[in-house]
Amino acid sequence: MENTITVNGELFDIYLTEEQIASRVRQMAEVLNAEYEGKEPVFVGVLNGSFIFFADLIRHITIDCEVDFIKLSSYGAEKISSGKVSILKDLNCEVHERHIVVVEDIVDSGLSIDFLRKLILRENPASLSFVTLLMKKEVAKIDFPVQHVGFDIPAEFVIGYGLDYAQKLRNLRAIYRQRPEAKG
Ligand code: PRP
Repeated sequence: MENTITVNGELFDIYLTEEQIASRVRQMAEVLNAEYEGKEPVFVGVLNGSFIFFADLIRHITIDCEVDFIKLSSYGAEKISSGKVSILKDLNCEVHERHIVVVEDIVDSGLSIDFLRKLILRENPASLSFVTLLMKKEVAKIDFPVQHVGFDIPAEFVIGYGLDYAQKLRNLRAIYRQRPEAKG
């Protein structure tokens, strides 16, 4: 695995290795297996970013469950949020009286999960919780708990393992963070 990669002349250093990610994902699934035993939860992947995390997590889920996906408006080629969220692909599952577990790759500003929370609570689920592999705690503006966080990370730009750089590099097996530009 490369320790440093260059994208459009910008340097990215390895931040979380495949092994670190795999081990944390397994732990998170074990907690979910215990918490949702007998509840037949619906795991909802938020496209596109969560697809790799979702696929890895769900293969460690051993209880009865369903899966569904939702796609929100994307940041596009930008690295920061436009501040607006809309639905590009809605849920297909029945939310009413079901246990819903939303699976995100990253909580950044918190806009996406805040939007999802309001959307899903309108349908009166039996319960709603959030799982995210990465959380930018310092910048996330949310006034509700995110129950399952893989890694708290600083407010830096990260790519790989589902997370994109202008839609590319989602296929990197590890997570890389952008190296701050040298001063002077
Ligand atoms: C990313 C990520 C989260 C969201 C988090 O999605 O997958 O869904 O941003 O950011 P927030 O907390 O500031 O809302 P993005 O809109 O980039 O689309 P993608 O999943 O297709 O990459």
